[in-house]
Amino acid sequence: MTNTVAIIQARMGSSRLPGKVLMPLGDRVVLARVTDAARTIPGVDDVWVATSDLSGDDAVATWCAENTVDCFRGSETDVLARFAGAAAQADAGIVLRITADCPFLDPAVAGQVLTLLRRTGAGYANNFDPRTWPDGLDCEAMRRDVLDAAAREATRDYDREHVTPYIRARRDRFRIESLVCPIPGLGTERWTLDTETDLDHLSAIADKLIDLPTPGFLDVLEVADKIDGTAHPTAGASHQTGVGDSSNEGRYATSQALLERAEKTIPLGSQTFSKSRIQYPENNAPLFLSHGEGGRVWDVDGNEYVDLVSGLLPIVLGYRDPDVDAALRRQLSAGITFSLATELEAELAERLVRQVPCAEMVRFGKNGSDATSAAARLARAATGRDRLLMCGYHGWQDWYIGATARHLGVPNAVRELSTMIPFNDLGIVEDHFRKDSDNIAALILEPASAEEPQPGYLEGLRELCTRHGVILIFDEVITGCRWSPGGAQAHYGVTPDLSSFGKAMGNGMPISAIVGRADIMTLMEDIFFSATFGGEALSLAAAIATLDKIEAHAVTDKLWAYGGDLKQAAEARIERAGLAGVIRLRGAAPWAILAFADRGDTTGAAIKTLFLQEMLNAGVLVNASHNVSYAHNAADRDLVLSAYDRALTSVSDALSKGDLLARIAGKPIEPVFSVRKSA
Ligand SMILES: Cc1ncc(COP(=O)(O)O)c(C=O)c1O
Repeated sequence: MTNTVAIIQARMGSSRLPGKVLMPLGDRVVLARVTDAARTIPGVDDVWVATSDLSGDDAVATWCAENTVDCFRGSETDVLARFAGAAAQADAGIVLRITADCPFLDPAVAGQVLTLLRRTGAGYANNFDPRTWPDGLDCEAMRRDVLDAAAREATRDYDREHVTPYIRARRDRFRIESLVCPIPGLGTERWTLDTETDLDHLSAIADKLIDLPTPGFLDVLEVADKIDGTAHPTAGASHQTGVGDSSNEGRYATSQALLERAEKTIPLGSQTFSKSRIQYPENNAPLFLSHGEGGRVWDVDGNEYVDLVSGLLPIVLGYRDPDVDAALRRQLSAGITFSLATELEAELAERLVRQVPCAEMVRFGKNGSDATSAAARLARAATGRDRLLMCGYHGWQDWYIGATARHLGVPNAVRELSTMIPFNDLGIVEDHFRKDSDNIAALILEPASAEEPQPGYLEGLRELCTRHGVILIFDEVITGCRWSPGGAQAHYGVTPDLSSFGKAMGNGMPISAIVGRADIMTLMEDIFFSATFGGEALSLAAAIATLDKIEAHAVTDKLWAYGGDLKQAAEARIERAGLAGVIRLRGAAPWAILAFADRGDTTGAAIKTLFLQEMLNAGVLVNASHNVSYAHNAADRDLVLSAYDRALTSVSDALSKGDLLARIAGKPIEPVFSVRKSA
């Protein structure tokens, strides 16, 4: 018989509540409650405590000795090694990992996690990913060989400290199962012991359950809702109390400290408006990430998220895609930047020419702005005209940004040459061309964004541009590699003269491309588009691997299917919450864009702020859109949708009570500027 051992992780050091594991809670200390519960888990043969070898944890070891609980001592920080050591000493075949801050651990639920592991033959199972059970019932079952593999292989401090992220990030290698709570809506309950407030609340619950030595989660649920007079540290309570709810206390402490440090040397503390503090709820959001894996990222406080930002859309395959990473490693061993061109440039250019309808020739840049700016200059050179019509977002350079509200520093002479036009309105384009086509070099637009093109719109632009000698540029920095391997132009069947690609081309490596008609592109021989890192080889290698995989795995089809399903399921929830006119998901499935309208006196910006605050708290990193990737999976979908439930409940409750502003920590988020408007 396989020896199944529950190992309880316990230590005295806790920054928020030192000594909590030996504090009294009801009729026993916390650790006694957890060991009592662990001993009654069906299928558990043995219970051990794993604590550190620091002298501060002698008290835990002494308590174990006095209460005849086996105790293993190991590294304070390398908790993974500590667990593996405890499992070896206990001769475990299966390990059930429990933490000592869960005084209401439910033995029946933990037993179900074990059963799930055994029945399915999985290597690892838990009940918190996605979060459907109350926080405080968490446990993880794993086969000993899986734990040992992680202990041998994991190298990152984060993986070693948190024991199982290394396993959970390897779904392709270890079969992973999760136990879903049969009662919907409990994922926002929180019964863990982290702060004084938690202690008060959990003590009140324990006092009411004094007759039950190991209460089940339904017992706890029943009394938790009835307790008055103590703060209720659940997400549910945050709907009522709003700012400063204890569930959120300290969640982003490291991010906040890092922001303070970064802002001393970096304006806004960020390289990109869209990643900066002004685009997230003030004092209530993660601002710094430490790593990513698949469809998930972790912030510097150790919080895990399903990432719907995807690096502002470069991450199309997922973080640390094994094929792209392998290509990077291979190239790294040959070199990064060389003194002359490499063969990789021709290889990638040939690939784009094969894939993208308008591409006859290609040049590479690093950011999308390089490619769009090259397109604008080429169009001016090809036509001998100066004016540009623009629709959408095209980057940070003067010729574009001068036409937006963020034009500080752009000379008026440049601004006057650029005109923004609305999307899906052929009449306006016709007017401009009729009045001034002799001066208009190009029309540059995103072929799809907050709206898809109406039937005939792109075809109409094509015809008008040809008739008036205006260069038609599709800015496919986002749609390229998302709509289809040949971009939106292949998807909608309309071929522009020039096109810009970027973002997802290198799955996170900095690379962009201007592609287009050979007669225009050859002007590049005289145009100054020339930069040190234009042929940097790591990014070229990553782009070739990314495009290979997008094609071989039908990645864009998956983005349409997965993104469409997620969009539909979210829209159904928005509708059910009575928020259909207030929160909308616009545009196409691979990049569904969130839009927030005013409701009464409450602005869309304020509603967005509360929505983001709740989504972030529920473990979903989202800002303006669903930027789905090939790595996003069913568990990610479930987590996003349960976060939607939480966020929508909060927004609709706030709107009906009229107290939305009181629930957000700072000022409502204002857009950097708004460009993706439709006609
Ligand atoms: C459609 C579009 N074009 C151009 C750009 C500019 O790209 P980059 O930020 O890489 O310079 C962006 C960036 O968001 C974009 O979305």
